[in-house]
Amino acid sequence: MKLYTNFIYPTEVHDVVKLFLDGVVLSDDGSGDITLIEYVDDTKFKYVSTFFARVAQTEVDTAGLDELQQVRLRKRFAKVCMYDLLVKVTGKHMPWGGLTGIRPTKLARQLTAEGLDWQQTFRGLLDVSEQKTNLVADILAEQGDLYGYRANTADMYVGIPFCVSRCSYCSFTSGEIGKMKKYVLPYVAELKRELAATLKFAEDNGITLRNVYFGGGTPTSLSAAQLDEILSVIDITPTEYTVEAGRPDTIDKDKLDVLAAHGVNRISINPQTFNQSVLDTIGRRHTVADIYDKYNLARKYDFAINMDLIAGLPGETYEMFCHNVECAVACGADNITVHTLALKHGSALKEQNFAQGQSPVAKMVEFAHEKLYATGYIPYYMYRQKYMSDNLENVGFTKPGKPCLYNIDIMEEISDIIACGTNAISKRISVEQNRIERAANPKDVITYIERLDDFLQKKFELFS
Ligand SMILES: C[S@@+](CC[C@H](N)C(=O)[O-])C[C@H]1O[C@@H](n2cnc3c(N)ncnc32)[C@H](O)[C@@H]1O
Ligand code: SF4
Repeated sequence: MKLYTNFIYPTEVHDVVKLFLDGVVLSDDGSGDITLIEYVDDTKFKYVSTFFARVAQTEVDTAGLDELQQVRLRKRFAKVCMYDLLVKVTGKHMPWGGLTGIRPTKLARQLTAEGLDWQQTFRGLLDVSEQKTNLVADILAEQGDLYGYRANTADMYVGIPFCVSRCSYCSFTSGEIGKMKKYVLPYVAELKRELAATLKFAEDNGITLRNVYFGGGTPTSLSAAQLDEILSVIDITPTEYTVEAGRPDTIDKDKLDVLAAHGVNRISINPQTFNQSVLDTIGRRHTVADIYDKYNLARKYDFAINMDLIAGLPGETYEMFCHNVECAVACGADNITVHTLALKHGSALKEQNFAQGQSPVAKMVEFAHEKLYATGYIPYYMYRQKYMSDNLENVGFTKPGKPCLYNIDIMEEISDIIACGTNAISKRISVEQNRIERAANPKDVITYIERLDDFLQKKFELFS
């Protein structure tokens, strides 16, 4: 089936179609089974969408708005027009309505800045469900004073592109450390060089680094000695210092000692699931007992601990997923992040054409949220991705007073980010111009090792 549109942002309209129908392609020959046509009359933009005999229409007047605001409104109303049509055709409503962006909380703040009642726009115009609108409201309330741009301040992200084995759902650009042995030492050496240069640049330019976040990949797939070498370069005391330990099979006492000695105050130990058969299916290569052992070991230190779960993993029933949530809550993790399986290109599951089938992912997520609210956890950040099961979302929950500041900064895009390592994107926020400029390090280890200086220069230019 083909979609034809004369709208200058066709992928925006296509993204709405993908919420309802698989396999629809964008047409480039002026014809389509589904169409959306934009008509322009001075400051008025009118949209008409059709699917066989079904028709929907929307209209917006952009008089007095600047170009950026006009574009935003045109995109919004074009998408609403397609969404309304497909609701008529299929009789289905989506949990996030016609919203396809990855940051609903950011959109809510933007609507408020436009002078609109965001809740009314979510519920009325965009058809977002009451439940999801309330979720956004709770997150905005929890972020409270933690939300805000701080001049001359940035967070630092550090990417470690190694894992002990590849999980079948994952599309991140990280390699199995056992197969990449010859690159590990050169990577550690170049990363240390980048960190030292970046810290000096920040100091010379009066930039305070507030939160430091090591992600990946799995930072703790490096040895205790390698971690010690890297962390020794970081000669500042950030407010929040996170190292994603992630895989329980990468954690031991020596590594935790190193993290603690360097002032790391937040780690993650991610079960994904507490069911052994599912761990085996997704290639995590550790036992359920390992999750408890490593969690109990880490609890002897002063770290705040996050646990990631994924709803919709292969072979996991509703009851099995509920068990996962109960286990994470019983552990008493400070943060519990509930992801919804996204079937992304580059993951083994996608390549194997894994299909979600009848798995009740929406019901699983609903159980997780209810259980977490009921046990005192509060949602504090969220994001959505393409290809998510049932068009849902990922939500970070926290015990009171324990939210991860970096997660809020990165998802709300309110902090400059100075990033080091592979697949690390530095961002400079311009609040006045409502703009974000970026400088990206390479995704692959070899290019990083060979050409670090080029990327360092681009990063420093961004912040000069
Ligand atoms: C960047 S990954 C790193 C985590 C760490 N290496 C580990 O395996 O525990 C962060 C989290 O994203 C989630 N995630 C990764 N791929 C996903 C997918 N395709 N769908 C849903 N969640 C995903 C997982 O919960 C994972 O813990
Ligand atoms: S989920 Fe974590 S351990 Fe698994 S492949 Fe992705 S980054 Fe590596």
